[in-house]
Amino acid sequence: MTGKVILEVEGLSVDYASSAGTANAVNEVSFELAEREFLAVVGESGCGKSTLLFAIARLLTPPAEVSGGKVLFSGQNMVAMSDKALRTLRWRGLSVVMQSAMNALNPVSSIGAQFSDVMRAHGEKDQKAVRARSEEVLTMVGIDPVHLASYAHQLSGGMRQRAMIAMALLFSPELILMDEPTSALDVVAQRSLMVQIKQLQADLGFAIIFVTHDMSLVAHFSDRVAVMYAGQVVETRPTRALFADPLHPYTRGLLDSFPSIYGPRSLVQGIPGSPPDLTRLPPGCNFAARCPKAMPRCATDAPAQYEVDDALVRCLLYEETAPAHEPGDRPVTERAARD
Ligand SMILES: Nc1ncnc2c1ncn2[C@@H]1O[C@H](COP(=O)(O)OP(=O)(O)O)[C@@H](O)[C@H]1O
Ligand code: SF4
Ligand SMILES: [Mg+2]
Repeated sequence: MTGKVILEVEGLSVDYASSAGTANAVNEVSFELAEREFLAVVGESGCGKSTLLFAIARLLTPPAEVSGGKVLFSGQNMVAMSDKALRTLRWRGLSVVMQSAMNALNPVSSIGAQFSDVMRAHGEKDQKAVRARSEEVLTMVGIDPVHLASYAHQLSGGMRQRAMIAMALLFSPELILMDEPTSALDVVAQRSLMVQIKQLQADLGFAIIFVTHDMSLVAHFSDRVAVMYAGQVVETRPTRALFADPLHPYTRGLLDSFPSIYGPRSLVQGIPGSPPDLTRLPPGCNFAARCPKAMPRCATDAPAQYEVDDALVRCLLYEETAPAHEPGDRPVTERAARD
C-alpha cells in the first residue's frame, strides 16, 4: 500500500442524549486512512458503525452530537468546519453511499434529475456537461444511460445501489464512505456489486471506508479492518493478518461466528451474551462480561490501544508486550503507507 494519509480521525466521540440517558455510540475512535485504501469497519448491529460514518461525513442529526475529537480530511477539521466549507468538500472531496438507495433516492424524481440537482448545486451549470457526466458515471457502474430517465422504483435493488454509487462518483471524490451498500441484496447481486466497487476503485483511485457486519465481504475485499465493539475500535489491522491471527478476544469470537473462509468450514459458535447498554458502559473493558480471557482487573481498568506487530489492539492482555497509543498517535497507517 502506498500513498499519503488523507483522513485522520482523532478521539472521535458521539453521544445520543435521551430521557433514558446518554448513549456513548462512538467512544474515542482514532484511525487513519491512506489514499486508495479500502478500510472495512466491522461489528455487530448497534455497535456504532453508522454513527461513526455519519460523524465523519458530518451528516449526524439531533439527538446525535459529536462530544469530542477531530476528523481531519486533507488537513481540515470537518467537525469545526463552517457549513459553507463543508458544502465545497461534500461530493467533491468525499461522498457517501447509504445503506438503502430506496430511502436515499427521491421516489418522485428521475435518476437523471437527481444527478443534475447535485451537479447544479455544486456549481456545474452547463446542461450539456451535466448530461455528459451523468451518462458517463452511469456507464461506469454498468447501467445503460437510458436509465437516467428511470425512477428508483423502476430499477432492481442492485441497480439502485449502483445508481447511488454513480451519483457518489459525479465529482470524482478522493474518498467514498459506504454504509452497508450491499446488505439489502441477494448473495449474487452482492458479489457482483463488490467486484464492481473494487474495479472502480482500481480505475479511479478513491479510498473507501466500508461499513459492514459481513466478515466474508471484509475478508475478500478490504485492505485493512477496524473492528468495532460497543462504540470503540478494538482492533485495527491489515486484513490478511487479522484473519490469520486475530488478537483481540472479540475479533476471535467474531471470526469463530462465521464459517472459516480460508480453511475448512468450522461450526458457527457465536459469542455468548450481548453487548453492554451504551448508556451504562462498564468502568473497565466494554467486552469484559463476554470475554473468555477476562481477568479480574478487566472489570475495573479500561484498556488503552496497544501496538502489537502491525495491529492496534484495545485489550489488557497486550499491555505488557507493547507500548500504549493514545488518540493522535498513528503507527498503523504510517506503516501501511511505507509498505
Ligand atoms: N436515533 C437514535 N437515537 C438514540 N440512540 C441512537 C439512535 N441511533 C443510534 N442510537 C444509538 O447508537 C448506537 C449505535 O447505532 P448505529 O451507529 O446505528 O450502529 P450500527 O450501524 O453499528 O448498527 C445504537 O446501539 C443506539 O444505542
Ligand atoms: S481487556 Fe480483558 S476483558 Fe477486555 S478483551 Fe482484553 S482480556 Fe478480555
Ligand atoms: Mg448501521
